Amino acid sequence: MNIVVIGTGYVGLVTGVCLSELGHNVTCIDIDEDKVNTLNKGISPIYEEGLTELLQKNIEAGNLDFTTDYKKGLKGKQMVYIAVGTPQGEDGSADLTYINKASKDIALNLENDIIIVTKSTVPVGTNEHIKELIKSNLIKNVHLKIASNPEFLRQGSAVYDTFNGDRIVIGSDDEEALEALEKVNAGFHLPIVKTDLRSAEMIKYASNAFLATKISFINEMANLSEKIGANIDHVAAGMGMDKRIGNAFLNAGIGYGGSCFPKDTRAIISIGKNVNYDMPILESVVDLNDRQRGIIVDKVADRFPDIKGKKVAVLGLAFKPNTDDMREAPSILVTEKLLEEGAVVNVYDPVASENAKSILSDELNYYSNIVDAIKGTDITIILTEWKEIKEFPLENYKEYMVEPVVFDGRNCYELEDASKSGLEYHSIGRPTIKR
Ligand code: UDX
Repeated sequence: MNIVVIGTGYVGLVTGVCLSELGHNVTCIDIDEDKVNTLNKGISPIYEEGLTELLQKNIEAGNLDFTTDYKKGLKGKQMVYIAVGTPQGEDGSADLTYINKASKDIALNLENDIIIVTKSTVPVGTNEHIKELIKSNLIKNVHLKIASNPEFLRQGSAVYDTFNGDRIVIGSDDEEALEALEKVNAGFHLPIVKTDLRSAEMIKYASNAFLATKISFINEMANLSEKIGANIDHVAAGMGMDKRIGNAFLNAGIGYGGSCFPKDTRAIISIGKNVNYDMPILESVVDLNDRQRGIIVDKVADRFPDIKGKKVAVLGLAFKPNTDDMREAPSILVTEKLLEEGAVVNVYDPVASENAKSILSDELNYYSNIVDAIKGTDITIILTEWKEIKEFPLENYKEYMVEPVVFDGRNCYELEDASKSGLEYHSIGRPTIKR
């Protein structure tokens, strides 16, 4: 199949590269010329495990190339994937600026019949809007079919998820489009869910909303466990053994962040508002998540009513491990509050520091390793469960900190180990270990 992918963000790029790995002939279009040049040299602008290898392999094999030229990219292609960003708009709804621009650019350069496939997460009904927008701007009388093929990729493991996902969802009201998409995806050897256009769009939002709900739910149970003296690790393990509940996504902590859950939960609430339907469950999920981010600072404030002048180390800045993404990361709120209270704040992250510098306050002191970041501090706060942080020996806090008090927002350490370490250790949903 000859395919063109519009947008080379993490979704578009991973999709294009993985489709070329299946043997399809893929051209990726992006408006950013520098990015296109770099990609044509086999250099990826983002870090995704396994991506560079497949990128270089398929460029060399002649299956994959990148261009800024819509006309050239679309020429002779049978399918166009739209994978541009749909950021959060001011009112919480998805901003369709990039979708609209890509649709118009397709229309103004299309010279043959084509199947349009939407990868971007878009509100229900947007696919019909895309089809109409392209149709009304066409320069040639060509035939269009439209389908939705939402992604379920986690940042950091997007290539792995493409080949090992639980399912592929394809939705269209056109049988031929469904068949064509089924063929394109056959090489992944994954279960395929075929449905109509609107249901496919809804599956994506409903899945992300459910996962976000699972996280806020376990966080609520964690907050309660803490007050009544239970241990959330044991509670989650006991719950997760029930197959109807499942043990994934039951890690209590300081809430979800990143480029998907915060945006998609707000967007689905906004979709409900548009049809006069309130969504009390999801509104609570979002509220609890907003509160959960600040919970670690509240814990610090309970223990140290005045942190003015105290030295605090913050370990982990990215919204989750194995990414340098700072979008909706709890570190934004936490560092801001600590500085507001007058603390001196050291920070460390294995890969996100460069990105963090453009977002967080200039008053933070960046360090290139954990030991230097915690040396001479009174308080350490863990915000991201990087492997390196989880494996950092507990004795080291005692050795390098002045007053070894650790607040762990991601339950990186076993409680038993913490209790033997001689530290004062606060975590989420578990009893506090006092010295
Ligand atoms: C998510 C979805 O998993 C993916 O299917 C979708 O396409 C995009 O959004 P991503 O944002 O990359 O992917 O990260 P994920 O690993 O799912 O984690 C999301 C957030 O939830 C992180 O902030 C993480 O720390 C938090 N989380 C996850 C928890 O707090 N507890 C958990 O048990 C799991």
